Amino acid sequence: MGVLSFSFFVFCMVEIAAAQPVTDPNEVMALNKMVDYWNLRAKLNFTTDPCTQNATWASENANPRITCHCNGNTCHVTNVKIYALDISGEIPKELFVLKELIDLNLGQNVLSGPIPAEIGQLSNMQYLSFGINNLTGPVPPELGNLTKLISLSFGSNNFHGPLPSELGTLTSLQQLYIDSSGVSGPFPVELSNLRSLQTLWASDNLFTGKLPEFFGTFTNLKTMRLQGTMLEGPIPSSYGALTKLEDLRIGDLSEEDSSLKFLDNLTSLSILSLRNCRVAGQLPEQLSAFPYLKLLDLSFNRLTGQIPISFQDFTSVQYLYLGSNNLSGELPPNIISLNLIALDVSFNPISGNLPQNFAKVGLSMNVIGTSINPNSLLDRKASGMLHCLLGNTKCTNKLPDTSFSIKCGGTTQVSASGVRFDDDSETLGAASMYTSSDYQWTVSNTGNFISNPNGPQYIAKTDSQITETLESELFKTARISPSSLRYYGLGLKNGKYSVELHFAEIQMDGSQSWTGLGKRLFDVYIQGERVLKDFNIQSEAGGSMRALVKTFEANVTNTIMDIHFFWAGRGTCCIPFQSTYGPLVSAIHVSQVSDGVGSSNRDKKHVGRLVGIAAGCVAGLVIASSIFYLWWTKDSPAHKRVQTDSPRKG
Ligand SMILES: *[C@@H]1O[C@H](CO)[C@@H](O)[C@H](O)[C@H]1NC(C)=O
Ligand SMILES: *[C@@H]1O[C@H](CO)[C@@H](O)[C@H](O)[C@H]1NC(C)=O
Ligand SMILES: *[C@@H]1O[C@H](CO)[C@@H](O)[C@H](O)[C@H]1NC(C)=O
Ligand SMILES: *[C@@H]1O[C@H](CO)[C@@H](O)[C@H](O)[C@H]1NC(C)=O
Ligand SMILES: *[C@@H]1O[C@H](CO)[C@@H](O)[C@H](O)[C@H]1NC(C)=O
Ligand SMILES: *[C@@H]1O[C@H](CO)[C@@H](O)[C@H](O)[C@H]1NC(C)=O
Ligand SMILES: *[C@@H]1O[C@H](CO)[C@@H](O)[C@H](O)[C@H]1NC(C)=O
Repeated sequence: MGVLSFSFFVFCMVEIAAAQPVTDPNEVMALNKMVDYWNLRAKLNFTTDPCTQNATWASENANPRITCHCNGNTCHVTNVKIYALDISGEIPKELFVLKELIDLNLGQNVLSGPIPAEIGQLSNMQYLSFGINNLTGPVPPELGNLTKLISLSFGSNNFHGPLPSELGTLTSLQQLYIDSSGVSGPFPVELSNLRSLQTLWASDNLFTGKLPEFFGTFTNLKTMRLQGTMLEGPIPSSYGALTKLEDLRIGDLSEEDSSLKFLDNLTSLSILSLRNCRVAGQLPEQLSAFPYLKLLDLSFNRLTGQIPISFQDFTSVQYLYLGSNNLSGELPPNIISLNLIALDVSFNPISGNLPQNFAKVGLSMNVIGTSINPNSLLDRKASGMLHCLLGNTKCTNKLPDTSFSIKCGGTTQVSASGVRFDDDSETLGAASMYTSSDYQWTVSNTGNFISNPNGPQYIAKTDSQITETLESELFKTARISPSSLRYYGLGLKNGKYSVELHFAEIQMDGSQSWTGLGKRLFDVYIQGERVLKDFNIQSEAGGSMRALVKTFEANVTNTIMDIHFFWAGRGTCCIPFQSTYGPLVSAIHVSQVSDGVGSSNRDKKHVGRLVGIAAGCVAGLVIASSIFYLWWTKDSPAHKRVQTDSPRKG
């Protein structure tokens, strides 16, 4: 071949190539291997070049989606999205051939094994998501090589070990989603370089040490979630500089008390939840001037003093949770502000009358465990129950019971063994209480499933058959709660009782799909004593839709049985949908097993008196289930009060 003809040949090739740029052949090969490995051939059938313009897999809404960048006659894959398609197996090495990747989304699949160190070679990456998978191993320090990262997500996986300090090099990072990822230990101080952060989801990890002071330098933060960790308080005053915060959720802090002083300038807040954080001191008056505040949850803390009169002036607050504190005095008479949907002041030594307008349509209010005068309550039963808990006459009129049974979230059912489980199908609101028709028991619920696509729901239902039981129907409904669900047996004979708690996971599906990767964890307290911590129904029952009955022994010494299901911030938040977490219970059966305890008191027909008092939150070890039970004998004209149970540490 002559020089001339060779040149001509080359010229032609370039012409053709320029007309139709093609994908780097190494990348085509790698893509094809991955497509076969993940069984995606039906969706990604590369009969044309993967980087062909207008290919079906390049369209905006395609999933899987592959797009490229072409420069001259060569194209490189820049975006790969394989989202919620249940691809499984390990992350294949071929992925690291795609060196020009800018955006990789492998979220909501069932990938397993580690993230290989080669991830560090993809140094053009800006958006990287492995969120909601089944990945294990350490978080690779090589991620620190991806200095162009804007968004990094590896939440809801099973990693172990600490966050690598190398993440501190990701100074462009705006979003970091690492909730429920399995990581542990302290936050490396190097993370203080992440000054661009706007979103930090870090809940439900085994973080230790103090809540980092340096988060206070992340002045671009809009969203921070840090619930259910082992972090210690106090909330540093440096957080007062985070004035762009719109959604702040810190929870479950231990050790030192926190003050609310840092909130002064955080006026952009729309959601503020500092639940179970050992927050002490008085409620700041100026919170009422926060114009966007919709949800304020300061429950399960150590707040004291009166609820400020300024709390009448909230303009946008819909959900106000102040339960289980040590707030005293009277409620501001107009605390039911314009947009209020839920008011929880339960378990506080608050006295006086109910607020005006408490019967507002659509409002739910929980005043259980307070000394508020219940006479004005329209709901005769609720009023009766409060009277009963306050030690007035209602409970004493009936003979003491020796058992009660509740079909949580469902209608009356009689079990094969003849036990009648009472109807508990009442629709509960975001701060509610409900009492059975015969004052045998009462239920109290607080909490709001923020951003649940199914709306406010406190009952779960399934049509599926429940296995490991002959009483499948008993488990097809359940009460669920985003914060605190509490049942009281009332007017019980004193003595030793057996408490049977019936559980079956009916919301999380336990399948081999990504939807089966959810973890529900909650705590259970009986008579103020923690009997279950980080309880996971699925793992104990061996899967979803399987019945599990846990039996405990407890003593009734003051006519009341207190069974408290409490969310301590643990478990996944959002599998299979947003706001899937918190306690779930299917049925409760409580019955006396002997006359042993308290039999000497039994004939005195005393009634329980419940006065709300809360104690803080030592790493979720002590929660505010501490209630003073007082009783007195009805026969005694002097109404002699005796304190029988002091707050107990669980
Ligand atoms: C891929 O496309 C070819 C040609 O159009 C077709 O013969 C083959 O069946 C397709 N494969 C799959 C898995 O869809
Ligand atoms: C891609 O589609 C657009 C609009 O539908 C069209 O204008 C363009 O010519 C197409 N390009 C190719 C290479 O087919
Ligand atoms: C980090 O990225 C550079 C390119 O920017 C690359 O040469 C190097 O191998 C990468 N290091 C690791 C540990 O992946
Ligand atoms: C709030 O801002 C004012 C004015 O900038 C400042 O003086 C004050 O210290 C800030 N308060 C807090 C708690 O950060
Ligand atoms: C609650 O506050 C009162 C003062 O109003 C105080 O005497 C009491 O000790 C506090 N109780 C607890 C449990 O902190
Ligand atoms: C996740 O991995 C574990 C083993 O590490 C396995 O037992 C489990 O079935 C996997 N889950 C899914 C949904 O694939
Ligand atoms: C119930 O009381 C008996 C006798 O006082 C005691 O031995 C037992 O430990 C108590 N049980 C519980 C669960 O507190």
